[in-house]
Formats: sequence, C-alpha cells, structure tokens
Amino acid sequence: MQTAMASVSTFIAMFIIMLAAMSSGILVAYANTEFISRTCNKTNNTALCIAVLTTKPQSAHASTEHDLARIALELTIDTAKHNVKVINDLDKKKQSKPKAFALAICLKAYTEATSALEIYAVSNFQMGSYPSTLANVSFAMGASDTCKKAFKRIGKESPVSYIDREMIEHCSVASNLINLLVRK
Ligand SMILES: *[C@@H]1O[C@H](CO)[C@@H](O)[C@H](O)[C@H]1NC(C)=O
Ligand SMILES: *[C@@H]1O[C@H](CO)[C@@H](O)[C@H](O)[C@H]1NC(C)=O
Ligand SMILES: *[C@@H]1O[C@H](CO)[C@@H](O)[C@H](O)[C@H]1NC(C)=O
Repeated sequence: MQTAMASVSTFIAMFIIMLAAMSSGILVAYANTEFISRTCNKTNNTALCIAVLTTKPQSAHASTEHDLARIALELTIDTAKHNVKVINDLDKKKQSKPKAFALAICLKAYTEATSALEIYAVSNFQMGSYPSTLANVSFAMGASDTCKKAFKRIGKESPVSYIDREMIEHCSVASNLINLLVRK
C-alpha cells in the first residue's frame, strides 16, 4: 500500500513536471516565432523571410536581428555549397556538349559564390562591415543569373533552375536582414 501510494505520487509529480516543461517549451517557441515574424516584417518579403529562417532550428533561439542575419548568411553558404554538389552530381557523360559546357559555367559560378560567401562575406559580417557583406552576398547571388544565362545562350532548359531560384531567395532574405543592421 505504501509503495503503491509512493508510486502514484511519483507518477503525479512526473506528470506535473512534464506538463510544465511542455508548456514552457511552447511559450519559448511562441516567443521566438514572434521575434522572427516581427523582424521579417521589417523586410520586403515577410513570408519568404519567415519560411527561409524557420528551416534552421537555431532561428528559434535568436534574440537579435544580428543573430537572424547571421543565420540567413550561413544559409546562403549551405545553399551555394549544395548547388555545387547538385551540379557535380549530374552525370556529365549523359549531357550534350553545349549542356555540359553550360553546366561548367554554372559550376564555376557557384564555386566562386561559395568562396565569396565563406571567405569575404563571413569576415566582413564579423567585422561589422555590413555594406561590404551586402556587396559580397550580391556577388554570390549573381551565380544564379550567370547559370541561367548560360542555358539561355544555348537555347536549352536549365536542369538546375530550381537551385538558382533557391539561391536568389536565400541571398535576398540574407540581404534584407543585413540591411536592417546597416541602418543602425
Ligand atoms: C508589420 O508591420 C506593419 C507596419 O509596417 C504593422 O502595421 C504590422 O502590425 C506588423 N505586423 C507584425 C506581425 O509585426
Ligand atoms: C567582398 O567585399 C569586399 C569589400 O567590399 C571586396 O573588397 C571584395 O572584393 C568582395 N569580394 C567579393 C568576392 O565579392
Ligand atoms: C527588396 O529587397 C531586394 C533585396 O534586398 C531589393 O533588391 C529590392 O529592390 C527590394 N524591393 C523593394 C520594393 O524594396
């Protein structure tokens, strides 16, 4: 009887602790979603900004605009690297000569975009040189245009237009957020 009572009270205590943990977790998540929304609302594409930032779990822990801008910048690096990988993974032997040539241009553009972001943008951001960071992000975003044009020139449908779009979206969200820091 004693042990039964003890285990019931232990069960109740655990249940209460679990409830408390759950509700505080919900409150924290709510508070941070609110911060993301409020910050993204200052950019010119609120919905895209929220959609992009929430793909990174760290965004929920961000408490400053600087944190969110850094996360968005990191995301552009992930995207540029991912695009290099996607292009590398395409079977070159199955492509026609003009297409393989266009893909080589895309690969070069995204490789250069990766370096511009990893080498220049990150250090400029860390130094608080936001206008320079913006110039570097803008350069990196240009990879999507370079790639698109390479296929346009040969009159072929680009097999990688979806990664070009992702690059444009991620770079513009990062630019928008870094722009919020410039004005301060
Ligand atoms: C977004 O900004 C507008 C003003 O620019 C404001 O009226 C609105 O309440 C804001 N929304 C949120 C969710 O912060
Ligand atoms: C990055 O920005 C710096 C400062 O504006 C500039 O000197 C450098 O050429 C830029 N690099 C790239 C790749 O955009
Ligand atoms: C929105 O932001 C992008 C990227 O910073 C910029 O190129 C564009 O001109 C902006 N549009 C408006 C309407 O402010």
